Amino acid sequence: MVSTQAPPVENSGRQYLPSPIGKFKSISPNQQLFPLTTTVNDRDHMEIGGCDVVNLVEEFGSPLYILDEETLRTACRQYRDALAREYPGQALALYASKAWSCLAVCAIAASEGFGIDVVTEGEMQTAFKAGISPANIYFHGNNKSRAELDLAITSGCTVVADNWLELQTLAEISKTAREPIRIMLRMTPGIECHTHEYIRTGHIDSKFGFDPDQIDEVFSFISQQPGLSCTGLHAHIGSQIFELQPHADLGEVLARWFEKSASYGLEIKELNVGGGLGIRYTEADDPPSIEEWVKVVSSGIVKACEARNLPLPKLLCEPGRSLVGSACVTAYSAGAQKTIPGIRTYLSVDGGMSDNPRPITYQSLYRVVLASQMGAPLTETVTIAGKHCESGDVLIKDARLPKIETGDILVISSTGAYNASMASNYNRVSRPAAVLVGNGSADIILERETYEDLIRKDRLPERLIADS
Ligand code: LLP
Repeated sequence: MVSTQAPPVENSGRQYLPSPIGKFKSISPNQQLFPLTTTVNDRDHMEIGGCDVVNLVEEFGSPLYILDEETLRTACRQYRDALAREYPGQALALYASKAWSCLAVCAIAASEGFGIDVVTEGEMQTAFKAGISPANIYFHGNNKSRAELDLAITSGCTVVADNWLELQTLAEISKTAREPIRIMLRMTPGIECHTHEYIRTGHIDSKFGFDPDQIDEVFSFISQQPGLSCTGLHAHIGSQIFELQPHADLGEVLARWFEKSASYGLEIKELNVGGGLGIRYTEADDPPSIEEWVKVVSSGIVKACEARNLPLPKLLCEPGRSLVGSACVTAYSAGAQKTIPGIRTYLSVDGGMSDNPRPITYQSLYRVVLASQMGAPLTETVTIAGKHCESGDVLIKDARLPKIETGDILVISSTGAYNASMASNYNRVSRPAAVLVGNGSADIILERETYEDLIRKDRLPERLIADS
């Protein structure tokens, strides 16, 4: 089951059921509706990372992304520790920075021993600025520009080659490069899984990666390029996946290609299984834990390699959503309400599809609470609407909430992945600030855009300036 299809589940009449405190190590953050440090304080307000959410909004404004450092670090450590425990060879987890590319998140992931997966120069430059060593940066993308490739290569990143044009360009660049260019190959695994059509990438009809039917031609081409050093193979099935079987099957598919590569004289040392582990957006979502996922992925590779007498490769994986998704919430201020008798009540908030484009794009479901009155009974059914000039700008349909007054603070959870990174300025709404919370303090990690920021790149040609 994925949250895009699951019906909203009525909860137990309470807004929030706290996680057992002090046991973070064993709680998989991706299975939680709220960040691990979430509590209710004696003012009946939601507290995250020891910070009162209502106070945070007073200080930093709304909408506000609130990122809990403890949750993010716990998720990173669970991947890292599970890989060390479950995989007998070398392993490296990469943070798929498309989930939220910003300096602070990249720096935290790196400080927990992660490398970084980037897909554009923008994400690459962010990783560089966050202090990530290029040796641990893997550059993906299905249409990399020549300039992007040049930058990645001269900086020492690994390029994950995605298609023929790119391979030919790499071969050409390698003729004048000082040393062989380190590349991996992205293949389409041909594995189906149940997630939203837009975020499925493993099936054959995908714009990403080489078609597996062309694998011989690809290997043969690379084996004739002395300037290309192909060190690994990569496949990614899709995102927000709750099933484990596709990831078990992926080991088999990757090992088959790995075996074949040897007959072309390629020295493959790394297999990258991509990301994809889902998170809990609503009560109806029941994803496996990080540890379960790592176990399945690791044993899939080990079994498939052993069966073929292949040496154990270095195992890479690229989680995005399951690292940062559950670590962040978005706080909004409640505004206008409109009741259409017999139909529904709309409650508008001061953000919407610009700070969270997932509901309108993927019909994603989310969970909301009234953070300024956590103990209040759930008496109302309201549809949370954004402030954009678009009827579809609805964040949550028919949410159960206490009675809401204008100015109340609402919190929507699990907004750390693909929210800030996909945010827009539609209707010239400035993008929210983000704070990193922990141990009772909050640091800005993303400043709120100002209206000057919004028009900074606008130019008014002289002839359009009205005569005064
Ligand atoms: N590796 C590759 C090559 C990917 O394409 C992706 C995600 C990941 C890793 C990370 O997957 P994750 O662990 O986050 O599932 N905007 C969509 C999600 C698009 C995912 C794109 N690729 C959403 O909001 O659901």
